[in-house]
Amino acid sequence: MSSQSNKTVTITDNTTGKQIKLPVLKGTDGPGTIDIRSLYKELGYFTFDPGFMSTASCDSKITFIDGGEGRLSYRGYPIEQLAGNSTYDEVCYLLLYGELPKTTQLLSYTNSIKEHKLLDEKMRRFFLGFRHDAHPMAMMVASVGALAAFYHEEVDVHDPVSRELAAHRLIAKMPTIASWCYKFALGQPFNYPNLDLDYTADFLHMLYSMPGRLRKPTPTIVRAMDLILILHADHEQNASTSTVRLTGSSEASPFAALSAGIGSLWGPAHGGANEAVIVMLKEIVASGKDLSHYIARAKDKDDRFRLMGFGHRVYKNYDPRAKIIRQICHDLLDELGDDNPNKPLLKIAMDLEKIALEDKYFIKRKLYPNVDFYSGIIFQAIGIPVSMFTVIFALSRTVGWLTHWMEMMSDPEARIGRPRQLYTGYTERDYLDINKR
Ligand code: ACO
Repeated sequence: MSSQSNKTVTITDNTTGKQIKLPVLKGTDGPGTIDIRSLYKELGYFTFDPGFMSTASCDSKITFIDGGEGRLSYRGYPIEQLAGNSTYDEVCYLLLYGELPKTTQLLSYTNSIKEHKLLDEKMRRFFLGFRHDAHPMAMMVASVGALAAFYHEEVDVHDPVSRELAAHRLIAKMPTIASWCYKFALGQPFNYPNLDLDYTADFLHMLYSMPGRLRKPTPTIVRAMDLILILHADHEQNASTSTVRLTGSSEASPFAALSAGIGSLWGPAHGGANEAVIVMLKEIVASGKDLSHYIARAKDKDDRFRLMGFGHRVYKNYDPRAKIIRQICHDLLDELGDDNPNKPLLKIAMDLEKIALEDKYFIKRKLYPNVDFYSGIIFQAIGIPVSMFTVIFALSRTVGWLTHWMEMMSDPEARIGRPRQLYTGYTERDYLDINKR
């Protein structure tokens, strides 16, 4: 819970001369936050902040970002320490329960997840209804939403035990759903989970194995994927998490709220960016044009082209996740060898990064490479098709979305999210008969 600092901010209405003092709330880290809840009641004004540039939509104990310094922590633990020492399972536990687990706690959590990995067999038929060329994200939005139909009576959003069960179900089923989205696109049979494998290794098995040909990914590939999942597990109040909170605030099913969050993540300005990065890098390689041509286009205000994987709403410094993932990207490509077909893409990516980091336009606007810049290259290197990138992001962010949903649902002060607006349309006017218009 936030506390009230002894600071206040005074607002004067110059028309009426009325003054109100607004309290400044203090979190445990980050800037003070002016509590404007009484503003409309006292002065009759709304605040105007499209895109939430200066608005904290809730208080939260889960994830902290200092965008100016490029710091990110989950439950107080710096992302660098978690990436260096932890596993995705452990990070999920940390996010969900607030503390790092003891051995027995982790075992009980992972056993519960294993128990819920299977999808209802009727979901197979649900998948078969998609067009042959359906985008995996479209299938994921639909299939996670469809799970609401299977658990409608069972989920009581007001009961913490029921919320925990829904969270375990969703975390457990996401790798199965993600792999089925992939297999459907390839026309290959769906795989079932292998309960002898850990979460990440099992996901890779469901992606790559075929009947009669079990594929065991190398430890480097499993670790690279596990790290990607850790780095994407949560990122405080971004567009998709805010969507999940807003949807859940009406007491909707968590399956429906997550489906809405997945829809929000899909866009290229959010989770779809790593897909857009690869498309851009491939276009650059194919064009044979000099990188300066693309840098010039990115700066041209009459051209919609932007350097994908650069810039972030919150980080006005190097994205700390990008630093970690950059290293993994290099390690993986070294292991895969010089003849790996992705080497030219990585070379272009490195050149682009160098030029942008030295260019005045990017320096002035604090546009640094973000996590998506490198994750796309890693996925490409381990044989994951571009259309699956955001699906994997959704899989990893599921735990973050659910943790935020559970935090909101257990907050006695939480209410339905209902922003106001600055109306700029017509004032009231009279209806005209169709013949007189
Ligand atoms: N290439 C070129 N110029 C850019 C870029 C870019 N990638 N990003 C921002 N700018 C410029 C804008 O044109 C603007 O310039 P101006 O001040 O001269 O008008 C300035 O930088 C600020 O940009 P905004 O769009 O106002 O910044 P905002 O915080 O709204 O957008 C965003 C952030 C959406 C991430 C943006 O930087 C972008 O589109 N990046 C490319 C897509 C991308 O990589 N998205 C991934 C986000 S991270 C994630 O979701 C995990």
